[in-house]
Amino acid sequence: MRKEQFICPYTVYDNPDELESQDAELLRWAHEATARSYAPYSKFHVGAAARMANGEIVTGNNIENAAYPSGLCAERVTLFAAQAKFPGVPIEALAVVAHSETKTIDEPVAPCGACRQVMVEVERLSKRPMRILCQGETGAIMAFDGIESLMPFIFKDTFL
Ligand code: THU
Repeated sequence: MRKEQFICPYTVYDNPDELESQDAELLRWAHEATARSYAPYSKFHVGAAARMANGEIVTGNNIENAAYPSGLCAERVTLFAAQAKFPGVPIEALAVVAHSETKTIDEPVAPCGACRQVMVEVERLSKRPMRILCQGETGAIMAFDGIESLMPFIFKDTFL
């Protein structure tokens, strides 16, 4: 037997001014998308923005439902919309932010497990790592250069 360790490298930026301009812009699109979030139940408004290899930006937001599991996270709304609108176009980066009606979120909000699994497939289709940027409403930004830094031991198609 042997003990092993999984290392998940990521970068922390203290504020958006430290980001490269295209990442700072993507983050702004994600913040703007929170305004369209439909979250009457959680009051937790998530916005996301995807930068495509063709230069397009696709935004999305969480959409809730009275039958709770029927709602969908902002990340999946965005990634599925991007894939539907631009099939075959790689997704270079995804920014995710969250604003709450009940408190100020000043730490980065990390994507849920189901969204991470969708990111795995997006990367496989894109044939390149997808940069993932996470922020709350304010404060530091965490950046991951690829889904494997955010989700170790992924379930992948090669298992099938
Ligand atoms: N939510 C997202 O949009 N993304 C995540 O990664 C986690 C949670 C949404 C789902 C629900 O509308 C609200 O946030 C509270 O869970």
